[in-house]
Amino acid sequence: MVRTVDAHRDIDARARDILRANDKGGFTVPTGGLYPYQWNWDSVFVALGFATFDESRACREIETLFEAQWDDGFVPHIIFRRNDPDYFPGPDVWQAGTDIPTSGITQPPVAASVVNTLWTRSSSEEIRSRLAALYPKILAWHRWFHRFRIPDGCGAVVITHPWESGRDNSPEWDAPSANIDISGVQPYQRRDLQHADADMRPTKLDYDRYIALVEFGRNAGWDHDVIGSSGPFRVADVGITMILLRATRDLIDLANRLGRDDDLEELEACLQQLVMGTNYLWDETAGTFCSRDTITGRHSGFVTNASFLNCYAAVGNEEQRDKMTAHWERISASANYMLPSHDPDDSRFDALRYWRGPIWIVVNYMLAKGFREQGLDEWAERIAADSRKIISEHGFNEAFSPISGEGSGGSDFSWTAAMWLAWCGAANEQ
Ligand code: DGY
Repeated sequence: MVRTVDAHRDIDARARDILRANDKGGFTVPTGGLYPYQWNWDSVFVALGFATFDESRACREIETLFEAQWDDGFVPHIIFRRNDPDYFPGPDVWQAGTDIPTSGITQPPVAASVVNTLWTRSSSEEIRSRLAALYPKILAWHRWFHRFRIPDGCGAVVITHPWESGRDNSPEWDAPSANIDISGVQPYQRRDLQHADADMRPTKLDYDRYIALVEFGRNAGWDHDVIGSSGPFRVADVGITMILLRATRDLIDLANRLGRDDDLEELEACLQQLVMGTNYLWDETAGTFCSRDTITGRHSGFVTNASFLNCYAAVGNEEQRDKMTAHWERISASANYMLPSHDPDDSRFDALRYWRGPIWIVVNYMLAKGFREQGLDEWAERIAADSRKIISEHGFNEAFSPISGEGSGGSDFSWTAAMWLAWCGAANEQ
């Protein structure tokens, strides 16, 4: 027993060391080499980890992210503060034309939820006022989603590049990507394969499509009206929709705490629109929440870890929840570790290839939070215990095989370290 406690203390110390080593001065890179810049949702999750030992540094992480916010409220997915030839596509490819160089696409908006959590946990007036100063910026970002990415009659959030989902190569994007014209893509050299095993990364075809979409956005001058209405990839994403829905609930909570009564009516309307959007994402045939191509109207039909975020978003009628329960029972009976990013019973499942099977600890964090809030304590405990076990046995990898627990992708990963400290590490065991 003493040995286990010591071992966990060592892991806590290692997690803090990873955050400090990946700290580049006010912002944290996801991991050295593979991702040498500031990534949007990585940073926000990382703030939860910093907050366990340095609240001021946690605030700084989110403040630096919002320093790169565009005038229309958009918050980019990568902030390029300096050029690093080790990463492709870098700022010279994106050509966003902003003072702080950035990409032209966004990522899942977890900021409102994390800021609300940090505000609630903090007892420092100074920290709370720094967090309160982020509120109008987050509100502007949410408004940007509603203005550019939530079509009337759909209600769900449309992504215009698979990278916006954060679930880059999920099989959910295979069919909607098939019509992306890659014939004009200029020759390029991938850099990710210098840092990670090719079997764990997206394929060449995936990359050609990613770059074609970057070139489309760049040619459109990153005009989000044009990209959102006529881009070649426009998919209502189940992950980002559930995350924005939850973030809206948390922003309402924060607005109440901060006395921002004037915003409440607007935020409630946004919430109702997103709730309607989850029905657009319900696939009756497959009996699951999943992404849906807005160009063809077709659902992906896939059960992914994002499908179960309905609990985090607190949506789903009785019948929908029963069907999700049947999926949980089926998958949890066969997976050694929960929750795979793609359905293990589907032929596209791949235990080590990025978002086609591996477990992602930040998604597990959101899932466990939602399960707990919905009274699904056993599910929440299973997810937390599995996350704790794979990290303590295999280290702070980017992702993990649901079959062997083996780590995949980059190592010494900031958000995995942050989740250990803030959620699944032994110090948080309930
Ligand atoms: C990458 O480069 O793999 C990133 O996921 C893009 O956001």
